[in-house]
Amino acid sequence: MSDSGIFPTVRLRRLRQHPVLREMVRETELSVRDLILPLFVRTGSNIRQPISSMPGHAQLSLDLLAEEAREVAALGIPAVILFGIPDQKDATGSGACRDDGIIPRAVQAVKQAVPELLVMTDVCFCEYTDHGHCGVVSDRTGRPDVDNDATLKLLVDQSLAHARAGADVIAPSGMMDGFVGAVRQGLDAAGFEHIPILSYAAKYSSGFYGPFREAAESAPQFGDRASYQMDPANADQALREVALDVAEGADILMVKPALSYLDVIYRVKQAHPGVPLAAYNVSGEYAMVKAAAANGWIDERRVTLEILTSIKRAGADMILTYSAKDVARWVK
Ligand code: PBG
Repeated sequence: MSDSGIFPTVRLRRLRQHPVLREMVRETELSVRDLILPLFVRTGSNIRQPISSMPGHAQLSLDLLAEEAREVAALGIPAVILFGIPDQKDATGSGACRDDGIIPRAVQAVKQAVPELLVMTDVCFCEYTDHGHCGVVSDRTGRPDVDNDATLKLLVDQSLAHARAGADVIAPSGMMDGFVGAVRQGLDAAGFEHIPILSYAAKYSSGFYGPFREAAESAPQFGDRASYQMDPANADQALREVALDVAEGADILMVKPALSYLDVIYRVKQAHPGVPLAAYNVSGEYAMVKAAAANGWIDERRVTLEILTSIKRAGADMILTYSAKDVARWVK
């Protein structure tokens, strides 16, 4: 930098000389307390079925959940979000709404083992329907598609089953129009007005969900999710999605996936600075890092922390990430 003769030379490198000062001027702090770990739960006993595309993750049988919850809490991870793999699927995903379904039983197991662990539940039908779509399919529009309003009613039923089991946060993820309002009304009417809703407000139709669909056995059997999840090319529309969810009573918003959508995270935070914002660092983002690291092509720890820091820097207050345990071990 040249000296103008009037002003002294500005040297930003002065702030980078001493490690202590570098730390003092650091703008973004990533903490394990920001992280939410997704878990996949199934029935059976003593099953830890590895998910090949997500190294370090497995489908866990219900009986292993207490031990898992204790390990997660001991690592300092404050919250989990549960995904269920039911024994049976049908056209309407009826297993999702039963009080003895996989998620209500999982919630009870976790809460019993570690009451202080925050338990979130994903509310959606793709794991429970035989066609793998996120709601009831009908062809009333002239082609097979998820019937929005018929699905809303079922989303309420599923949410209530989770709330009755003791879920701390309900997270509807199906991208049906009006789903936050419907779930809010349903929870309130049943005396669960104290249960917050984390809305998958801007959820994109993304190729990054590939490994998750293996993990949750939830791939659509025909077509794709483009008629309900967002087009990756849109960001203005995400702000409309988010504004509707805020108006309908969402307590926490979410953008998903995270890494290819940092602009969306940023814009949502700018538009709704007072509403807590979550971002979902999804399965494909995790799998890419693990695969590259396994090949020795990147430094896994460094890249993972850089990715999570960038998600926070963009504006997320909390992050759902499969890396939560790795991060907890690294920063310990
Ligand atoms: C269910 C759901 C999905 C994910 C979270 N909830 C899959 C999908 O929409 O197909 C994906 C999470 C991930 O990839 O880690 N609707």
